[in-house]
Amino acid sequence: MTTIDYTQAPSLTYQQLLDTDTHEVPEVLRWFSPMAPSTADVPVARYTTAEFHQIEVEKVWSKVWQMACRDEDIPEVGDHITYDIVGYSILVVRSAPDEIKAFHNVCPHRGRLLKEKPGRSHELRCAFHGFAWELDGDLKQVPCQWDFPRLVPEEWSLPDVQVGFWGGFVFVNIDPDCAPLAEHLGDLSAHFERWPLEDRYKEAHVAKVMHCNWKVAQEAFMEAFHVVATHPQLLPSMGDAISQYDVFGNFCRAITPNGTPSPHISWVPTEQEMFDAMSDRNLDEEPKGIVGEGDTARHMAAEAARASLRPAIGDRADELCDAELAESIYYTVFPNFHPWGAYNRIVYRFRPYGNDHTRSIMECMFLSPFEGERPAAAPIHWLADDEDWTEATELGMLGRVFNQDVYNLPQVQAGLSAMRKPGVTFADYQETKPRHFHALCDEWIAR
Ligand code: FES
Ligand SMILES: [Fe+2]
Repeated sequence: MTTIDYTQAPSLTYQQLLDTDTHEVPEVLRWFSPMAPSTADVPVARYTTAEFHQIEVEKVWSKVWQMACRDEDIPEVGDHITYDIVGYSILVVRSAPDEIKAFHNVCPHRGRLLKEKPGRSHELRCAFHGFAWELDGDLKQVPCQWDFPRLVPEEWSLPDVQVGFWGGFVFVNIDPDCAPLAEHLGDLSAHFERWPLEDRYKEAHVAKVMHCNWKVAQEAFMEAFHVVATHPQLLPSMGDAISQYDVFGNFCRAITPNGTPSPHISWVPTEQEMFDAMSDRNLDEEPKGIVGEGDTARHMAAEAARASLRPAIGDRADELCDAELAESIYYTVFPNFHPWGAYNRIVYRFRPYGNDHTRSIMECMFLSPFEGERPAAAPIHWLADDEDWTEATELGMLGRVFNQDVYNLPQVQAGLSAMRKPGVTFADYQETKPRHFHALCDEWIAR
């Protein structure tokens, strides 16, 4: 077996970068937990076959905890949303002020979907013949009950689905015998202790159907290795190849520093050039800020972020180090949930589009701090097939970056189908995160 000499791994350069911070660096950024090197390629069939999709349905989606929505998506009693995954449809309902329940979103009479879109109602009534259930799932009314002599009301509660909560998110699990959510998440809360996601509100939520397997989409957002080829404009101010990658049980993370140049570029950018790249300055625009004598782009960007956070989080903004304000810290919780760390607002979710293994749903949420009363959570903004990500103006400069990312995806799917080599070969270090996903996938399949 080959081994990586981690004393030479680029992450140590990242740890050295942390040593230059103008504030105290929290322990969470010092944690260093590399994954052992890979021993095998990942079979192409995982991305290209209905057979493997079916294995995922049975071994993963039917058994794993998955993020269904935000708690704030259903703030009032009777509010509900549907979460669809590989042919299952789950109805998540606020059944009481402090209670959220989830059910299979199917009428036990003749199988109509109970709800087809988010809404608010005082009962769960099927639109076909009018069978109705209380918000807690108990049977409420059967039209012409005399015609159903075999129906035992106590046995006609809506079949429920396990529910769990973390960071202001509602998770569901279809497996009635599943382990608790807390067990699945492990130490995730310790990582987010300084950045509580439950204190944010969902400012934006954009979704689009992608023409690729869901893992092809997900894996395009798990590493900085692609930045050199896919997003070259970011290189003057992004330490892509000095990113740190760590694994922790069912989750992993990448930390990509910003405000420091990529090792790939052969010239030395000035601090001003780095700041311009970080602030997405167009060539025909004035700089969005001038880096003062002796200051750095990294520190200046961090100070600007501190100032913008202070109204919402108060003095805690001054406890955040530059790295927490500048870096891209992107976690992945198996199988498909991607909350970003620190005060970067991004959360991604990727999942199959129904049971089509060649299409998927990509979603990006922004979770923002707020002052005073919690603003209403943004509903999902679905982009049509012919709309690109810049049409979601609520995502700001990210739309253009996403367009670069997603341009690759159908080409990857087509290439995988045409590939004669039996497996894809992930880098030992920089592609730690997709490797970690597939290692966990192996474990779930073997159960
Ligand atoms: S299918 Fe729902 S009431 Fe008949
Ligand atoms: Fe990207």
